[in-house]
Amino acid sequence: MFDAKARYVRSLFSRVPLEYDILLGLLSFAQDRRWRGYVVGCARPSNGGRVLDVATGTGLLAADFARTLTGYGYVVGVDLTLSMLKTARWRLNSKGLRHKVDWVLARAENLPFRDGSFGSASISLALRNVSDAQKTFAEMSRTTGPGGIVISLDFARPPNRLFQLLYYDYLLGLFPLFGRMVSEDWGRTLSYLGRSILRARTGEQIASLLNREGLADARSVPLTAGIVCAVYGKKRQYRERREPVLNITEEQVLARLSGARD
Ligand SMILES: C[S@@+](CC[C@H](N)C(=O)[O-])C[C@H]1O[C@@H](n2cnc3c(N)ncnc32)[C@H](O)[C@@H]1O
Repeated sequence: MFDAKARYVRSLFSRVPLEYDILLGLLSFAQDRRWRGYVVGCARPSNGGRVLDVATGTGLLAADFARTLTGYGYVVGVDLTLSMLKTARWRLNSKGLRHKVDWVLARAENLPFRDGSFGSASISLALRNVSDAQKTFAEMSRTTGPGGIVISLDFARPPNRLFQLLYYDYLLGLFPLFGRMVSEDWGRTLSYLGRSILRARTGEQIASLLNREGLADARSVPLTAGIVCAVYGKKRQYRERREPVLNITEEQVLARLSGARD
């Protein structure tokens, strides 16, 4: 089922898949490669592991993971926009990575995979776009096996006030202007992107969403002067026992105590 936000996001991205990679590179001054490199370094599973890339778009991050996976390791890219997935498939096929990936049309909030199916799970530049970030993390955590990393990379608001002034002008003025120079659709998409970045969660807020899913040691790492933030946590090796340590009732304890006194 698609809510209003999911329908809106899908209509935005369904019109822009072919130019997406070039524009992302230009608008991020080619920093996007470095950001993806950081994610892969944090979350690459060990030999033969599987990676889930949620909201994979044109498969940029999926491709970077696929290149580094060894043995039987492979990536599953999930997205709700068919044209983005088709572009991702074309791009990875043309790079000879076909045997390292699978593509699934699905929503981040309702993933069609069994518990613990993956060695790690990522979502890149898309947490602002999903309809429910908490549910998305719940699903990513559920489908990640014990010891695996759940990681989000997303745009954030840089902490430096002076830099903020310049950056916000760039986001709200130049960004959509560049977009409109390419097409009306890109103008709309980049204007949405700029506005959504101004409303983005902080790294700490994202870390607390991860904590709520029981992921351990959630931490946030600002990159490129804080214009993006990588936030990740680790799936625990075991479920913490919530039962009382003593396996007998209070009455039994009292009976034993009175027995010991008699
Ligand atoms: C800005 S693109 C990011 C693509 C890619 N992850 C990257 O780093 O370049 C956002 C993508 O998120 C997808 N998306 C948005 N909401 C989603 C949801 N609820 N479930 C699955 N995909 C979603 C969109 O279709 C789009 O392809």
